[in-house]
Amino acid sequence: MSTWPEWLPLRPELAPMSPYGAPQVRADASLNTNENPYAPSTALVDEITTRIKDVSKSLNRYPDREAIQLRTELAQYINSQSGTEFDISNIWAANGSNEIIQSIFLAFGRSSALGFTPSYSMHSLIAKVTATPWIDGIRRNDFSLDVDSACAQISSFAPALTFITTPNNPTGSAITIDEIEKIAQEVSTRGGLLVIDEAYAEFSSEKSAVTLIAKYPHVLVIRTMSKAFAFAGVRLGYLIAHPQVIDAMRLVRLPYHLSTLTQAAASAALEFKSELLGTVAQIISAREAMAFELERLGLVVVPSCANFLLFSGFGIESAKLWEKLLDRGVLIRDVGLSGYLRVTIGSAAENAQFISVLQEILGGSKE
Ligand SMILES: Cc1ncc(COP(=O)(O)O)c(C=O)c1O
Repeated sequence: MSTWPEWLPLRPELAPMSPYGAPQVRADASLNTNENPYAPSTALVDEITTRIKDVSKSLNRYPDREAIQLRTELAQYINSQSGTEFDISNIWAANGSNEIIQSIFLAFGRSSALGFTPSYSMHSLIAKVTATPWIDGIRRNDFSLDVDSACAQISSFAPALTFITTPNNPTGSAITIDEIEKIAQEVSTRGGLLVIDEAYAEFSSEKSAVTLIAKYPHVLVIRTMSKAFAFAGVRLGYLIAHPQVIDAMRLVRLPYHLSTLTQAAASAALEFKSELLGTVAQIISAREAMAFELERLGLVVVPSCANFLLFSGFGIESAKLWEKLLDRGVLIRDVGLSGYLRVTIGSAAENAQFISVLQEILGGSKE
């Protein structure tokens, strides 16, 4: 923890905090941030280059503040995936879904926010940074979400914002659309907004919560191009919601927040959506193969609908195993859950390296 000098007028609630982020260290196999291992194809790189060259001629001007073309294309993408009828008025886009989360807190975090732990830690972190009291909701011991208990917790706390991440990070487990609807009904009787973080939706066969928005205007759905779309470096996240929620996003966004270059690159990626999403099936089958290998090593794997696996049963401290893996060139994630580690599904070579190094560390004793 940093100690801050007295002359620095840091807001007191920030003083005990540390900057969020997974260690960015070089490794042969980088399996720690749930990125997609497949780099853009030459055809996509060419398309991005052409578009960037084209828009670069007007970089003396501010970007389209409303990102009209990109938001229209994002609406089309969601409609094609979920059979919905959204248009630009239902979509907001920002620099990664983290910025979307921040804007949601800035606009609506007027009392408290509730999320079910363990889940994506940026929800509670952004709550802290934006001075919204955070409530750590409870899951079952196996980390699955008990929907009746979730509804009871919503009813007793009546938070301004309730966060559900499905598939959940770091567990990978998903809830069904019927379960989400039950929670949406509870939220509508208690007041407040239900925020569904669907960063990993494309890896799951569950129906998206975007299909509930027409019936439940207080349901907000966050998506990202960082995972299935293999576009983490561009930083593009988006929100699908009722038009008045989108209008509120405009109140808190910084003017010209989404650069011309970001808009052009994201638009090019959307044109290549079939190619990019083509990697999803490969990642899912590699995930199943890796779960099998981990279980073969005697480990316990949480069933996952995402591009990562949470596993336990290795019999040493999580931090120790994490370090031993890193010493051998494999970087995975210690998510701060004692006895568990999370591994992202990587390329075939990375996955093979991870399994072989893990087997070597565990000494084959668990086979
Ligand atoms: C559940 C969840 N939401 C949001 C994000 C942030 O994604 P982005 O890269 O769009 O900011 C992540 C990243 O790991 C995530 O796991």
